[in-house]
Amino acid sequence: MSPSEELQQTRIPLNTGAEMMPAIGFGTLIPDPAKAKQAVKTALKVGYRQFDTAELYRNETIVGEALSESFDEGVLRREELFLVAKLWNNNHRPERLRRAFEASLQRLRVDYVDAYLIHTPFAFPPTDEQHPKDENNQPVYDDGITLEETWRAMEALVDEGRVGVIGLSDIKLDRLKQIVATARIKPSIVQIEAHPYLPEWEMLEFCKEHGIVLQAFAALGHAMEPRLLDDPVIVAIAARLGKTPAQVALAWAVQRGTAFLTTSVTPQRIAENFDISPLPTEAMTEMRERLARIVRYNQVVETGVPGFVPPPR
Ligand SMILES: NC(=O)c1ccc[n+]([C@@H]2O[C@H](COP(=O)([O-])OP(=O)(O)OC[C@H]3O[C@@H](n4cnc5c(N)ncnc54)[C@H](OP(=O)(O)O)[C@@H]3O)[C@@H](O)[C@H]2O)c1
Repeated sequence: MSPSEELQQTRIPLNTGAEMMPAIGFGTLIPDPAKAKQAVKTALKVGYRQFDTAELYRNETIVGEALSESFDEGVLRREELFLVAKLWNNNHRPERLRRAFEASLQRLRVDYVDAYLIHTPFAFPPTDEQHPKDENNQPVYDDGITLEETWRAMEALVDEGRVGVIGLSDIKLDRLKQIVATARIKPSIVQIEAHPYLPEWEMLEFCKEHGIVLQAFAALGHAMEPRLLDDPVIVAIAARLGKTPAQVALAWAVQRGTAFLTTSVTPQRIAENFDISPLPTEAMTEMRERLARIVRYNQVVETGVPGFVPPPR
């Protein structure tokens, strides 16, 4: 295998020892159903094997169609896919969690998922309203359930063999430490915003100590201002190596030991984001030392409410 192929095929060990997680991932936060389906099918053909889904995205059915058509067309087999699903905030109570999990499997047309994550640590009231708001337009929380209780319901899914591994998302380091300290089954994956403008080194170090995979979302900065892909340091490294700024940011993500998620509805970009090559050590050092700016694009870790609205596609 060439060094580029090796990087593209990187699989990160999970702390259960059972399976490895492909580092390169594709996210399904694509509101337009036809574009979502086409993007997932294209990504599977290009070679992505890690896919992120969520009940919140309200497109599991369309993703499920894309997956099952791809299995039928012989693009890949189910066991070659690492499929992640996520539980939304209004389903944190154990009886609702169980139903939400079964419903996601049904919509995705699979009988197991490789990973099931709690989408955010914030519980919303146990109703079908995904974004409950009070009269001041502020999120309403459910104080009748703790994250620890929800975690125990997640552990039960593992006990029953319904899911490979479990994890958390949009969580801060202090809260993650509390869950790791008290959990019977430790989290295997933590999905958070991370990119060269928000490297989360301390979180990454903690994750590595505990064998937790850091799965970075918005790995390209979600195409928002300030535009990560226009950063002069990244642009200069890309020009030197004959790669694109996106390929530099994504190679950086894998080389520092994270898995990543990108999303695109553009076939050429879907291919570009998979076609990464190793960065020389000096480029990795330059990115660590010269990109001092910290930008958080998504405020979801503060409220549980997604903080950026996808641009029109
Ligand atoms: N846990 C959470 O709370 C959470 C929050 C947000 C996202 N996520 C997950 O993470 C996934 C990825 O997040 P994201 O959408 O923010 O990822 P992203 O890859 O940082 O941003 C996607 C945007 O970048 C553009 N883009 C993609 N490749 C490009 C390239 N090579 N050059 C220039 N622009 C490019 C896309 O445009 P086009 O589509 O127009 O090509 C799209 O507008 C989501 O789909 C979702 O699964 C999780």
